[in-house]
Amino acid sequence: MKINLVSLSEKRRPADLLLAGAFEGVKSLNLLRSLEPEFARTAEQALKTKRFSGKKGESLSSLSQGVREAAEIYLTGLGAVDKFNRASLAKTIASLIRLARCRKAKRVRLLFESFLGGKIQAAPAAGIFAEAGVLASYTFDKYKTKKEKDDGKFSGPEVLEILVTKKGAEKNLGQNIQEAQIIAEGTLRARNLVNEPGNVINPQTLVAEARKLAREKGLRLTVLGPADLKRLQMGGILGVNQGSKIPPALIILEYGASHKSKGTVCLVGKGVTFDTGGISIKPSNDMEKMKYDKAGACTVIATMGVVRDLKLPLHVVGLAPAVENMPSENPQRPGDIIRMSNGKTVEVINTDAEGRLILGDALAYAAKYKPKAVIDLATLTGMCVYTFSDQAIGLMGNNDSLLAQIKKAGEETGERCWELPLWDEYGEMIKGHHSDLLNTGGKYAGTITAAMFLKEFIPPKTAWAHLDIAGTAWCDKPRADCPQGATGVGVRLLAHLLKNWK
Ligand code: BES
Ligand code: MN
Ligand code: ZN
Repeated sequence: MKINLVSLSEKRRPADLLLAGAFEGVKSLNLLRSLEPEFARTAEQALKTKRFSGKKGESLSSLSQGVREAAEIYLTGLGAVDKFNRASLAKTIASLIRLARCRKAKRVRLLFESFLGGKIQAAPAAGIFAEAGVLASYTFDKYKTKKEKDDGKFSGPEVLEILVTKKGAEKNLGQNIQEAQIIAEGTLRARNLVNEPGNVINPQTLVAEARKLAREKGLRLTVLGPADLKRLQMGGILGVNQGSKIPPALIILEYGASHKSKGTVCLVGKGVTFDTGGISIKPSNDMEKMKYDKAGACTVIATMGVVRDLKLPLHVVGLAPAVENMPSENPQRPGDIIRMSNGKTVEVINTDAEGRLILGDALAYAAKYKPKAVIDLATLTGMCVYTFSDQAIGLMGNNDSLLAQIKKAGEETGERCWELPLWDEYGEMIKGHHSDLLNTGGKYAGTITAAMFLKEFIPPKTAWAHLDIAGTAWCDKPRADCPQGATGVGVRLLAHLLKNWK
């Protein structure tokens, strides 16, 4: 999608749809009046007679010929101005883009300032427009033999014009729009990867995707294969993948080695390309969704591309352990005791608690980069879905300032994070009898005990945060900014975090 900033003085041809907003209780529509006086008069009449009052969910539209801006003008209610925030703006714009799609509008024009109010500043708002525009236009239809666009040759809005009426204001907005577009497109890359099924994306084809990205963006790629993993004694990665015919890998993408003096951040993403549970096999209900157990890895891979496109002055290393968790004639067994790369031994109580095993090895490996911070993302526990549904990322870690930065980025992007405690007492629950650790901590506090396990693999004095994205990486029902399926959660969060890195 093309996103253009358009100023009032610019010559422009009529769009297919002009979108504007009105807050609850407004009496006049000055902005609209200067552009489309006739529609504005009608709308103001509607305000007077309470036919339209700017409440959320209300709308007023007209379709006519010979107008200046667009054949159709659509005014949407934004609700109370003091309740309006970034999240409501993002949702509004995303819904309007969906509407534009239904209308088969190719050229969509948004009256920028009509959507500003409350605490929203113009510059971040412009970013939200671009981001919502890109996100809401996403579909995953590569496996449909009859595509939406075959039907009337329409495949969604092509041009999004952000019409800015305040003189000179557009100069400050361009960069935000450009950055938001980079970040949103990175999110789509993550969605595309996660939505791919397990018969297409396996550990080796995920490596190929990482290679494609590395070539496209000029990132350094290192792939540790079975021989390397054995040499490094990565018993977690090897053990989980034991039942698969496809070799495992530890994918490492690196950006900005010349910025090392500014500090290194390691991003680690769980890449279970399919999680059957192994011998501790999952029930068949919903098992098809376990293709999204690679979401952490896909988010990390996609974020590496974003970090490069934003040219951030940081050294960022993305690590993604890639495995397939399968039963077979020679799989990992419950009760197996394995040795992880940091030397700790683990009794595998449940082969379905595999994410922590592969992450343990990857987190220990991250120490090699002497990072200022390590952040892992993983669809780690079903318990996290029970706790937060799809409303928050479960956040845990060992460093308050890092966690605070992540929470802030979560507020900014709408990818909200909520902290859970990692008290020492929880560590008792994963102590082994015949081994150092158990890979499960029983039925209580499952999200926390999983994180306590990961903590055992964090090098001393390293700031670390763990993001359990089990609830947020997938949406069962379509949202305004995302169709049913992978959400690409984490790309926006990490991009904002790293953009404002302190
Ligand atoms: N990938 C799952 C967690 C998961 C479940 C993610 C549902 C998304 C939706 C993970 O590997 C897993 O199976 N965890 C187990 C751990 C348990 C056996 C201790 C779980 O949460 O049930
Ligand atoms: Mn599992
Ligand atoms: Zn899993």
